[in-house]
Amino acid sequence: MNHSAAEGSQGADRPIGVFDSGVGGLSVLNALRAELPHERFAYFADTAHAPYGERGDDFVARRTTTIARHLLAEHRIKALVVACNTATAAAIHQLRAEHPTLPVVGVEPALKPAVASSRTGHIAVIATRVTLESRKFHALHASLAARATFSIVPCDGLAGAIERSDTDRIAALCEKYLGAAGRFGDAPGQIDTLVLGCTHYPFVAGDLRRWTGDAVRFIDTGAPVAQQTRRLLLAAGQLATGGPGQIQLLTSGEPASLDEAAARWVRGPVVPAVRAWTADTPAP
Ligand code: DGL
Repeated sequence: MNHSAAEGSQGADRPIGVFDSGVGGLSVLNALRAELPHERFAYFADTAHAPYGERGDDFVARRTTTIARHLLAEHRIKALVVACNTATAAAIHQLRAEHPTLPVVGVEPALKPAVASSRTGHIAVIATRVTLESRKFHALHASLAARATFSIVPCDGLAGAIERSDTDRIAALCEKYLGAAGRFGDAPGQIDTLVLGCTHYPFVAGDLRRWTGDAVRFIDTGAPVAQQTRRLLLAAGQLATGGPGQIQLLTSGEPASLDEAAARWVRGPVVPAVRAWTADTPAP
């Protein structure tokens, strides 16, 4: 495919591509929709390959580049939001190199805002193993390590349990991982800030809250990502200024299960999900 032709095509009415391994990016989509109500969004859930968090970097990078190409070729997206910390860690550099004129926004665990707002100076970070073992995360952590104490906990299995809506498993894993992080609260030395470093986790904030108590601040990246998307579109002269906006759901898995998740979690109307075939989508 000729990437530059697709990227160069004009039209602020083209959709913004949003992508995650599954339902997690819907938390970012809600923030995007609130910030950019006139935009059309094409949300791609790579459900057939979720979760990404315990897979190899190469696999995640391959899926990310395949999906970006698909969204450009089939939906003529004008910008791409990688609403997945794991895919951002594994592939954002590659995406930007391959599509130099496409505005690309990624997400990463919000350590900087956590340092700015923590009073006790003790911060817990929960995310997938791929995210936490990435070079990108190590660099971010190293740049802030002198300014706070970080308890960093890879949450194997949690995104998968959220994908399956497995409430018992979600509850058990939240207990296990937050128990491993340390003592939560606002007394000196306690963890007063929890960074949700995976876009799936805002959907289980209630389960997490059971183990942190009310004094702890949760930080996710939905709103800043939406603001950054707005800034990039404005700078590119590509902001949609009128119209009702729209959300189109696409999935490499079962459309019905994405529709169910969207009915539960997405604020506002969505166009029912359709199956999207990318080069390596498994046959049904
Ligand atoms: N929601 C994703 C993230 O932010 C991916 C979780 C997964 O697929 O393991 O990292």
